[in-house]
Amino acid sequence: MTNLDVALLKKDFPIFTKVMRGGSRLVYLDSGATAQKPIQVLDAEREFYEKHNAAVHRGAHLLAEEASELYEGARSTVAQFLGATDDEIIFTKSATESLNLVAYSFGNSDSSNRFYLDSSSSIVISEMEHHANLIPWQQLAKRTGASLSWFPVTEDGRLDLSNLEEVIKPDVKVVAITHQSNVLGTINPLDAIVKRAHEVGAVVVLDACQSVPHFAIDVKSLGVDFLAFSGHKALGPTGVGVLWGKAEHLREMEPFLTGGSMIESVTMTEATWAPAPRKFEAGVPNMAQAVGLAAALKYLTALGMDKIESHERELTEYALKKFSELDRVEVIGPKNIEMRGAVLSFTVEGAHPHDVGQVLDQYGIAVRTGHHCAWPLMRKMHVVGTTRASFYIYNDHADVDALVDGVRQVQKYFKV
Ligand code: ALA
Repeated sequence: MTNLDVALLKKDFPIFTKVMRGGSRLVYLDSGATAQKPIQVLDAEREFYEKHNAAVHRGAHLLAEEASELYEGARSTVAQFLGATDDEIIFTKSATESLNLVAYSFGNSDSSNRFYLDSSSSIVISEMEHHANLIPWQQLAKRTGASLSWFPVTEDGRLDLSNLEEVIKPDVKVVAITHQSNVLGTINPLDAIVKRAHEVGAVVVLDACQSVPHFAIDVKSLGVDFLAFSGHKALGPTGVGVLWGKAEHLREMEPFLTGGSMIESVTMTEATWAPAPRKFEAGVPNMAQAVGLAAALKYLTALGMDKIESHERELTEYALKKFSELDRVEVIGPKNIEMRGAVLSFTVEGAHPHDVGQVLDQYGIAVRTGHHCAWPLMRKMHVVGTTRASFYIYNDHADVDALVDGVRQVQKYFKV
């Protein structure tokens, strides 16, 4: 028994009518990379273009007014979804851009700004970050002379917080950490990290790409300073991401991209900035995509984030049990359900992950294979890559069974 009526909600997703290779049905287990879209999202985006399309905040005409209302309404929907206020929500093109926005803004600060970094500062990340929350900080460290350190990952795929105070030293200015690993499924305990970071005056940037779509988030109770997520992993369109930041931080921060719409006044040699969030939204924004994202978040809210969480938890527990019965197949990451999300990475002894993925594809099963944009983590876990199944609202036990049968076919095919 699951908490969601999967058969019913699947009817909202046109892609599940597609016939896959060999006449198979689609078993979509790659929502960690991108989620499928319900008709409500597709309609919202199309309707924007069909009935309201205009550049927001710039025209005196009816369409510009309607487009602006829809765009700002989308901002309110995101704010409500995260327990934030509207002026704390910035639309970007992706979570990657959201994280770069913070890193570049800090890098653009002068020494009078609290976000200024130099060779006396440190940035902390973790060994389980995907590249989007690793490289921007690595590059910021190079540009400013700040040092970069990280929390190691234990053999069972958890963050090693045993030296918390030595890692988050008094010179740390930024702690950038993932909420849930895209490879291991590990959900990181934030309380101790946030407490220690704030003790030394550092801000916490949370990469919430793999958590916001899957369980209820309230930015105030998390206590972090910034949070980034992408629309497309939360049933929304591609081309839209979100950065939430505490209003007091956004006020102090330097812009990232400059240009139209983000200014207050301009001369030939100088410019001043509009208040946040506009300060961070240069140019004509991704209006239709923001409206599509709002439709996605309304869809998730109507299903109930708590129900989604327990549905995925139950499914992951079932998958972990079925995988424990497979010989010569190893789950990479936590093998129990505690503090763990709906991502299951595994290796099949004697078969390369890409080959595993290709055989699964013959049965209509879509998984991600390879390094999952997390090379350092692959090295740490002593693997070249993994095969990753990631579950979402439209998956059920039959999908897990299909995956397990598929893995047996892989072993048969490669005689491993
Ligand atoms: N989007 C990347 C993934 O598939 C990081 O997990």
